[in-house]
Amino acid sequence: MEIKIFDDYERMSSAAADLIIDIVKRNPVAVLCFATGNTPVLTYKLLAEKAKEEKIDFSKCFCIGLDEWLGVSPDKSGSCHYTLYHQVFRPLGIKDSQIHLFNAMTKDIESECKKMNELIEKVGGIDFLLAGVGVNGHIGFNEPGADVSLLAHDQELHDTTLSSGQNYFSEPTPIKKGITLGMAQVMKARKFLLLANGIKKAPIMKQALEANITNNVPASFIQQHAGGIVILNKEAASALSK
Ligand code: F6R
Repeated sequence: MEIKIFDDYERMSSAAADLIIDIVKRNPVAVLCFATGNTPVLTYKLLAEKAKEEKIDFSKCFCIGLDEWLGVSPDKSGSCHYTLYHQVFRPLGIKDSQIHLFNAMTKDIESECKKMNELIEKVGGIDFLLAGVGVNGHIGFNEPGADVSLLAHDQELHDTTLSSGQNYFSEPTPIKKGITLGMAQVMKARKFLLLANGIKKAPIMKQALEANITNNVPASFIQQHAGGIVILNKEAASALSK
């Protein structure tokens, strides 16, 4: 695992965008998996700008969504589907045929998960996965205490996740559960980029990076990921001792 600390959100986002560009330049058929949330917003904006400037071709990549709020319609701003289309796929010219996201409206969660698991196998695994971290240490919707051997699954969400989740929606939205790739899939991604910014993330980043690896802090598993990269701004890194 590598840790990179930048002075501010702008610089860390620019570095994260450069990393994605570099991956696609080296491997134009890369399988990319993206989280949503506040943290990667600027990374995605800069990625679209840099990709346009440098004429990076995403037309052979395949994209997977890390997670989704169950029961939230894809056309609702705040859903992971809507967010990824608006922040990543459309700006990069990525077509529907290059995308697989969880269907949040499914009545059959088991087969939705199976579809995702089989697809990841079929495309040869995930080359690059970008995740943010919850203040409780979650990755995707793998909440504290998660069974880290799981593949895609549904998950009851913790109170902190439910309350921070409301901030993504413009109106109160009933959310209770999520559907997510499991930690087994996160850990198998050939590169796992974890982004954290802001003072709010400082305590959990200390636990994730400097305490023992534990499923009570799913983010701590990045310590044992050979292709793990943590990109932080100074504030999120402010509790780290080294
Ligand atoms: C969202 C996701 C979540 C967020 C995490 C951090 O797709 O996977 O795990 O990455 O909750 O959210 P922000 O970036 O809003 O602090």
